Amino acid sequence: MAVLVTGGLGYVGSHAVKMLVERGESVISFDDLAFGHTQAASGSKVVIGDIGDKNLLKKVFSTHDIDSVMHFAAFADVGESVADPQKYYITNISKSLALLEVMLEFGVKQMIFSSSAATFGEPEEVPIPEDHPKNPTNPYGRSKLMLEEILKEYEHAYGLRSISFRYFNASGADPSGLIGEDHKPEHHIIPLVLQVALGQRDKFSIFGTDWPTPDGTCVRDYVHVTDLAQAHVLGLGALRKGKATTAYNLGNGNGYSVREVIAMAEEVSGKKIAAVETDRRPGDPAVLVASSKKIIEELGWKPAYPELKTIIETAWNWHSQHPNGYDGR
Ligand SMILES: NC(=O)c1ccc[n+]([C@@H]2O[C@H](COP(=O)([O-])OP(=O)(O)OC[C@H]3O[C@@H](n4cnc5c(N)ncnc54)[C@H](O)[C@@H]3O)[C@@H](O)[C@H]2O)c1
Repeated sequence: MAVLVTGGLGYVGSHAVKMLVERGESVISFDDLAFGHTQAASGSKVVIGDIGDKNLLKKVFSTHDIDSVMHFAAFADVGESVADPQKYYITNISKSLALLEVMLEFGVKQMIFSSSAATFGEPEEVPIPEDHPKNPTNPYGRSKLMLEEILKEYEHAYGLRSISFRYFNASGADPSGLIGEDHKPEHHIIPLVLQVALGQRDKFSIFGTDWPTPDGTCVRDYVHVTDLAQAHVLGLGALRKGKATTAYNLGNGNGYSVREVIAMAEEVSGKKIAAVETDRRPGDPAVLVASSKKIIEELGWKPAYPELKTIIETAWNWHSQHPNGYDGR
């Protein structure tokens, strides 16, 4: 049986693809290259195309014996989603519905979906459990929550079972140094900080230093991308054994402030990282830290790289060896 991985050439998807290939799975990476890189395919079969293209999807489903889909393909820039919600609802919802339609047509009824901590909004309690109220503060988070809700209905109506993984801050790179994070433009904190260390950026902007946190900067839960990939492998195994639709948080349960990330990046890279303090960004919660008790107890997930230092070391290993990403664009 084969696994179709949408967005499989992107950052998180490519790490899942690599792990699946290493485990002997037959993998098809389906990506339109909006942010993906063919160099990140790890020997999987590559199909370049849009998940909204039902004819292409039908061709793929009819030529491969696919039993499950890992659905990473989406747009994921919170700020852009506020400025251009249509782009987010078209790709993250409408094109996902096209994918689900073709899955049902071909009787493929197992999906792992990349959801997000952005489904929660401003937390009422930390660490955040799965059943915490969901009040997303932007169209991106709302699009992820909507698809989670749609997936619940698809189980009841059509028997399509799914696991939604709500990632907190995906970070780090495969310890091999072969694949890593390469977004253009980049908007994630660790690569941005490391770009300053590499001399590619003058300074890093800290959005707000008056948050109600110990050092006044935002606190986030950084989770290694290889640990996310591991969760996907566990999720796939659970779905294949008949697991019912559910959602899991994926984080380490430890929060690190922006200043702590900068200090650790300085220690790991041995470079001074210039930072400027700017205004808060609207919609940013002060603290986002996951409780991942549920997946630890139910699926036996055990993060291999929970320490911020290891996360930044693997990221630095990738960025310092690939200062211009995969292709030097
Ligand atoms: N990176 C994070 O911290 C984080 C946190 C929470 C959730 N997520 C979710 O995880 C998923 C992967 O995130 P990422 O950081 O790897 O992003 P990414 O942009 O690196 O990967 C997404 C991939 O999907 C592809 N894609 C986008 N639209 C497509 C379409 N219409 N058809 C086919 N391919 C398409 C892109 O080319 C890209 O390769 C996303 O769904 C994102 O919302 C990411």
